[in-house]
Amino acid sequence: MNGGPRPLGSWEGEPVEEWARRWGVPHVEAYEELPSTNDHLRALARAGASPFTVVIADSQTAGKGRAGKRWASPRGKGLWISFLVKGDADVPPTLVPILVGLAAIRTLERLCPSLRPGIKWPNDIEVEGRKLGGILCEGMGAGTVVVGVGLNLSQGIEDFDPGLKERAASMEMAGCRDVSRSRVAGELLSAARSLMNPPPALLDEPLRQEVLDHDILKGRTVRTEVGVVGTARGIAADGALLVEVDGRVEEIRAGGVRAVESGESARAESRKYRKRAT
Ligand code: BTN
Repeated sequence: MNGGPRPLGSWEGEPVEEWARRWGVPHVEAYEELPSTNDHLRALARAGASPFTVVIADSQTAGKGRAGKRWASPRGKGLWISFLVKGDADVPPTLVPILVGLAAIRTLERLCPSLRPGIKWPNDIEVEGRKLGGILCEGMGAGTVVVGVGLNLSQGIEDFDPGLKERAASMEMAGCRDVSRSRVAGELLSAARSLMNPPPALLDEPLRQEVLDHDILKGRTVRTEVGVVGTARGIAADGALLVEVDGRVEEIRAGGVRAVESGESARAESRKYRKRAT
């Protein structure tokens, strides 16, 4: 990578090799700044990187969200991390994002027992109706997936762009303070390794139940990206979203969904944060 960004020798006060040892992963690369940790890891994967190779950046200049959106990644305010998952070529593409979501949920619950995080299919981690984290999984073929996770840690409401102030949250805003990025990374990687090293072909029943227990769309009216409106009925063993439309359950495997809000509950959540922030 001549002329490219230079990896840091140490991150959060420890040599990067020490983080790799503590986290039980083969290789960690940390950077002060990258365009996108996902793009960087993709290049490492093409050069033959092992499963659970990890890339972290203190900030990203072109952080990517789902559907071509930008992911704001201010310096030191969150965990911007990518890791490589390798499984059988026939692991359903809908499954890995759900397993990563579960890993993020387990991380938050372990570090902040008072938090009630939820998964909003397919890739959002929400707390009290606000998005605290996002997941971007990019398949490279033959069962190799670049997994990117962004978790907001220490932003205040003033740190978010105007369009996000009503919808975004950080761990700190949710009352979970003074948790270091290295602890969040360690818990996330440990949960991810126990769930996806390698990923299963399908969710077994206990895992599916754990997902359902955190499924914030269940029972709500949702609208899919292609305009189908129905009632969310949980998540299938392959990670598909189940939506009941006119008495028939459809399996949604692509695109995003939007909850058709009752309006009042969403406004009440926003007010709560505005009060806390003042
Ligand atoms: C989303 O909610 O739309 C997904 C957001 C994913 C953001 C993370 S931050 C680390 C990794 N690198 C990227 O460029 N994106 C992901």
